[in-house]
Amino acid sequence: MAGSEGEDRRKDGADSGADVERPARDRRLPAPPADLRDALLAHYDRHARPLPWRADTDPYRVWVSEVMLQQTRVETVVPYYQAWMRRFPTLETLADAPEEAVLKAWEGLGYYRRARNLARGARVVRERFGGRLPADVGDLRSIPGVGEYTAGAVASIAFGRPEPAVDGNVRRVLARLCDRPEPTAGWLRDTASTLVCPERPGDFNQALMELGATLCTPRRPACGDCPWSGWCRARAAGTQEARPLPGRRAPVPLRRIDCVVVVRGANHRSAPRLLVRRRSTEGLLGGLWEFPERVALPGIARGVPLDPVRHTFTHFRAEYRPALVRVEPGAEVAVDAAAGPTRWVTPAAAARLALPVTQRRILQAALAVLTEG
Ligand code: ADE
Repeated sequence: MAGSEGEDRRKDGADSGADVERPARDRRLPAPPADLRDALLAHYDRHARPLPWRADTDPYRVWVSEVMLQQTRVETVVPYYQAWMRRFPTLETLADAPEEAVLKAWEGLGYYRRARNLARGARVVRERFGGRLPADVGDLRSIPGVGEYTAGAVASIAFGRPEPAVDGNVRRVLARLCDRPEPTAGWLRDTASTLVCPERPGDFNQALMELGATLCTPRRPACGDCPWSGWCRARAAGTQEARPLPGRRAPVPLRRIDCVVVVRGANHRSAPRLLVRRRSTEGLLGGLWEFPERVALPGIARGVPLDPVRHTFTHFRAEYRPALVRVEPGAEVAVDAAAGPTRWVTPAAAARLALPVTQRRILQAALAVLTEG
């Protein structure tokens, strides 16, 4: 590696212009791509984590893992991935699954649109591609939920295509390698395409992601252990922690949400029923169940406030302020019907629904009050 870096410098120094044997050295990169690849793959071969989706290159499994990993850390994804593969072992089983089951298997991972798109995508693959994921990035991108990153990851990892796959970790690694404060999408795509190893594109892309996740971390990167540290321009300039520059963040507004756990008919003969509502399929938390917000209750109903539950979504922070309200067995309770179908469920049935993390905490708080008596 170090030797070939020297060789490269001689080539640059020979400024004859008669560079016909090999294309001119790509000055965007601090070293020839082959040297960078060799160093990174040698490091990966020694340090790659034995992750469950690395056991084979079944395209369906690669696809699921890459969608799960999009906004979620590896450690969090592993148990979800394993449970998912037991529940939906093939693309066919996913294509046939009810949406409720798909959302339930995703519960806790967040960004539920990813789960709904996976299931829709599985049906599209069955209808348009005979049940087999295509290898071509253009075909892959025609599948719901498959964007540039996922298409590149699946094409390279499952099909050995030399395609780039730029996620947030890769963006940071490349910005530092080349000391770029604000890498554009175009620059990242070009640079990752130039670098990707033609012989081992899937390993190369995963090695790059892993470098960003384990060593080239946002804060306090472990440059001493990095296979690229000798070439890294940000490290040479001492700018590694400032690359890439943080984007301008819009302030996240706080939204207070008053919601109600309506409990009906708790008496000695029957289990209480809780009123839940299903959110509309599109949009935030689409298709999941929740305790309703706008509820018209009988005048005599009295609420017990439950602890507030806070959660940060992408574009806002939410503070749920739930109250538990008991009503008589026959009581009329009107809920904003436009907001989605409602159902009265036992506590056990409520626990089996696909609930957002916040609603599960509200359910637990409500059940604690109910079992106290
Ligand atoms: N992040 C996204 N995809 C990944 C993969 N295949 N391995 C490790 N980290 C990842």
